[in-house]
Amino acid sequence: MRQKSQYADRARTEQSRRAAIPIIMDEIRSLSALRESEAACTRCPLYRDATQVVPGEGPSGARVMMVGEQPGDQEDRQGHPFVGPAGRMLDRAIVDAGIDRKQVFVTNAVKHFKYEQRGKRRLHKRPNAHEIERCRWWNEIERAIVKPEVIVALGATAARSLLDRTVTIGKLRGEALSIGDSRLIVTIHPSYLLRLRDEESKAREFKRFVEDLRHGARLLDKAA
Ligand code: URA
Repeated sequence: MRQKSQYADRARTEQSRRAAIPIIMDEIRSLSALRESEAACTRCPLYRDATQVVPGEGPSGARVMMVGEQPGDQEDRQGHPFVGPAGRMLDRAIVDAGIDRKQVFVTNAVKHFKYEQRGKRRLHKRPNAHEIERCRWWNEIERAIVKPEVIVALGATAARSLLDRTVTIGKLRGEALSIGDSRLIVTIHPSYLLRLRDEESKAREFKRFVEDLRHGARLLDKAA
C-alpha cells in the first residue's frame, strides 16, 4: 500500500502539476497502473466518504473518450463509470449515434462520488472548483495513455476540467474545439435528460444529444 500511495504523495507535494505530469507518465504507462495509483488518491477530501475510486474504463486505444462529471451512487457502489440511470441513457445515445461502444473510453472529471447523506439516501453534490482542479491530473494521464481522437465533454464540470476554465454549455455546443491532439465537443450531461419532466422535451433534447455525439463521430471519420 505504501508503494501504491507514492504517486499520490508526490502529487500532493508537487510544485507544478504540469511539470510533474511527464515524470508521473514515466511510471504510469498503462491503464492498470493508473487504476492502482488512483485507488490511493488523497489529492482532495472526497476519497474519505466515497466507497471507492471509480476509474475510467474502455480500451487503451479507444478512439473516443467521453468524460462525465463524477460517479453517482451506483457507480460508487460498483466501482465502474456510467452503470446507473445516466449511463443507460448515455448507452442508448451512443447506439443511436452509430458509435461503436467498444471504441469508447468512459470516464469522469472527478473520480470519487460527492454526496450529502439525507437519512438513508445519498444525494449527489456537484464537485467544486478545487476538487475538479485536483482531479484533472488523472484525466490528463488517462488522455496521455488512451490518446483519443475525439473527446466528448458531458456537461459543464467535464468541460471545465478539460478546458481549465468555466464554460457555458450553450455557447460551446455545436463547435469542434481542440485539446492537445484531440478534437473536443461539448454537450449536455445525460442526467439532464433524466430530470426533464415532459416527454416532448425529453424526446427533443435526446435527439439533440444524439446529434452532438454524431458530430463527434463525424470528426472521427475525418481523423481516420
Ligand atoms: N454521472 C457521471 O457523470 N458519471 C458517472 O459515472 C455516472 C453518472
